[in-house]
Amino acid sequence: MVMRVLVTGGAGYIGSHLVDRLVHLGHNVTVIDNLSTGSLQNLHGAQPHIEFVEGSILDEALVERLVRGTDVVFHLAAAVGVGHIVEKPLASLITNVRGAEHVIGAAMAYDKRLLVASTSEIYGKTKKMPMSEDDDRVLGSTTIARWGYSTAKAIDEHLALAHAAEGRRVSVVRYFNSYGPRLDPRGYGSVVANLMRQALNNEPLTVHGDGTQTRCFTYVTDTVECTVRAGLDDGAQGLVFNVGNDRETTILELARKIIALTGSRSDVSFVSYEARYGKSFEDTVRRVPDVRRARDVLNFSARVDLDEGLQRTLTWWRETYA
Ligand SMILES: NC(=O)c1ccc[n+]([C@@H]2O[C@H](COP(=O)([O-])OP(=O)(O)OC[C@H]3O[C@@H](n4cnc5c(N)ncnc54)[C@H](O)[C@@H]3O)[C@@H](O)[C@H]2O)c1
Repeated sequence: MVMRVLVTGGAGYIGSHLVDRLVHLGHNVTVIDNLSTGSLQNLHGAQPHIEFVEGSILDEALVERLVRGTDVVFHLAAAVGVGHIVEKPLASLITNVRGAEHVIGAAMAYDKRLLVASTSEIYGKTKKMPMSEDDDRVLGSTTIARWGYSTAKAIDEHLALAHAAEGRRVSVVRYFNSYGPRLDPRGYGSVVANLMRQALNNEPLTVHGDGTQTRCFTYVTDTVECTVRAGLDDGAQGLVFNVGNDRETTILELARKIIALTGSRSDVSFVSYEARYGKSFEDTVRRVPDVRRARDVLNFSARVDLDEGLQRTLTWWRETYA
């Protein structure tokens, strides 16, 4: 069935891939984005087939008007990445709480189906692995800015789930380190983008701490496929899904892979977290998703392995920035 779909943050990295996929599936797509970290370039292929509205989710009347004219809302607009959150905590919180409240409120007021994009940061610094959707959250102090991102997204999730408990059509996805073409080359919040840029410039690759911390990197086509299923499958309603690959990679291993893949002359440079982010930062040592719910309910498993995904990302990077 063809649907009218609103994607907030649709000019962003994940959002634009989601838009491409929804257009490919034949849906009528509208995007709202203020182009703060997204770009029209990301929508280059999709733009003839979509309606693009440059505007902010902080504009409640605009959000309401756009939501009213759609069937499904994918809410991805946010201040993203630990770098942004630590540098601009107030503006980030306002976007991620008040902006999300506008989108969630309008979707519920007009009885639209809603998907809310959340994050693995929700789990904080828990040591329990893999991280399952119903696990406890373990967070640091409010005096440490980086936890504001997790907390803001948790408020969004609580709001969404409170509506779901009243029978509304809502689902939530928590992304685990998505990477792929269209990552911002400045690397805001993306270790893959940072390391690839440095390798291609033959600069030292910055690894924070000792590089033994791990992440589970998920190629963007997998991120998007799971998002579409969580947003459109009836069985997904009222549920939270981890979206990711459960293969762990240390940051040092990632850096070495990228050096080998790019043929870079660079070496690795170890930098303390404090030197990069100041005292108000705490990193999580491991972050591994429990992927059973996405598999059992959505019949989804990540397909693209890291070597293949990095190769595709590098190909795009070279074509775009050659
Ligand atoms: N990339 C990841 O690995 C990852 C991990 C966890 C969660 N997420 C979540 O996924 C979503 C998409 O993130 P992304 O990685 O594509 O980052 P992104 O920065 O590329 O996308 C965010 C988009 O939201 C837009 N935006 C920001 N503030 C806005 C506002 N006030 N009004 C309208 N648009 C606004 C930006 O311009 C951008 O296009 C976000 O909700 C983010 O929290 C991403």
